Amino acid sequence: MEDFSGFLCLFTFLCVLNFLSGVEIVNVESEVTKECYGTHVGFGMSGNQDDHYESLRRRFKDCTHVEGNLEITHVDKAINSSYDISFLSSIKVVTGYVLLGLLEVQTIPLINLRLIRADSTYNIMGEEYGLVVALTSEAGNDPKRVGLRELQLPSLLEISKGKVFFAQNPHLCYIDTIDWGSIVPDNEGPVKYGELAYSENCEKKCDTECEVDGVNRCWGESRFMCQTVRSSHCHSSCPGRCYDSYILGCCHPECAIGCYGPSDSDCEMCKYFQFGDRCVPSCPANARRLGQECIMP
Ligand SMILES: *[C@@H]1O[C@H](CO)[C@@H](O)[C@H](O)[C@H]1NC(C)=O
Repeated sequence: MEDFSGFLCLFTFLCVLNFLSGVEIVNVESEVTKECYGTHVGFGMSGNQDDHYESLRRRFKDCTHVEGNLEITHVDKAINSSYDISFLSSIKVVTGYVLLGLLEVQTIPLINLRLIRADSTYNIMGEEYGLVVALTSEAGNDPKRVGLRELQLPSLLEISKGKVFFAQNPHLCYIDTIDWGSIVPDNEGPVKYGELAYSENCEKKCDTECEVDGVNRCWGESRFMCQTVRSSHCHSSCPGRCYDSYILGCCHPECAIGCYGPSDSDCEMCKYFQFGDRCVPSCPANARRLGQECIMP
């Protein structure tokens, strides 16, 4: 009886609150997942630049989980100054590779991208890449060609497969301050620099807030662009990351980014899917998948 009256009281209270404030009480989902599908065309483009830009915008606007590759190419602000790729800022996970090329934009605002899983990689001359940034302006002094200055990836903590490639980015700054070894597990040279990989004349430095152990690492000028460096120095018998490099504190192989303990429920983020509080390689047969979540019917 007591429980029941307590329920009524709560119910009444909510009703009064609802009546007074005049707003509906709704379930607020803190993290809304929106899934979208990537592409597999490389530097290809069909139709004209306007159609191509519009189709990129429609495909990725509000998307948080890209199933497949994120290919952002042929966006040239010198052709049409109203091209705006800020829609990229909603993306948190890409399951394939990320290809950024043939662009004429000043920044790539992938500010919430945490994980590039690179289930499929981009192949350049026999080498597999999870992230490729190339051809982001012509060298020269044409004032309309501003060129890519900042690759804004402050949330990026892991590229699970493949290396990173840069070429022909004559105005790009800051990427040489990044500790790529902490992002790319492949420790035999995580990054490859082709010709004009980045600008040699960057005058601006990272914000002083980015300094860790006397080294400044950042993705751009602002203090929100500091690199968060995760330790990559694990015991060699750890399959992935570790939570303590002094004891043999290996993360579970189902973890991405990092963990707080050894089990598949201690992951900071799941590599593949989350089922309850565990990270799993695939969802149970009767579950629906949304982004990286398994949802039971
Ligand atoms: C420039 O791009 C915008 C956005 O896609 C489009 O609406 C507009 O028609 C384009 N302008 C020209 C001159 O192509």
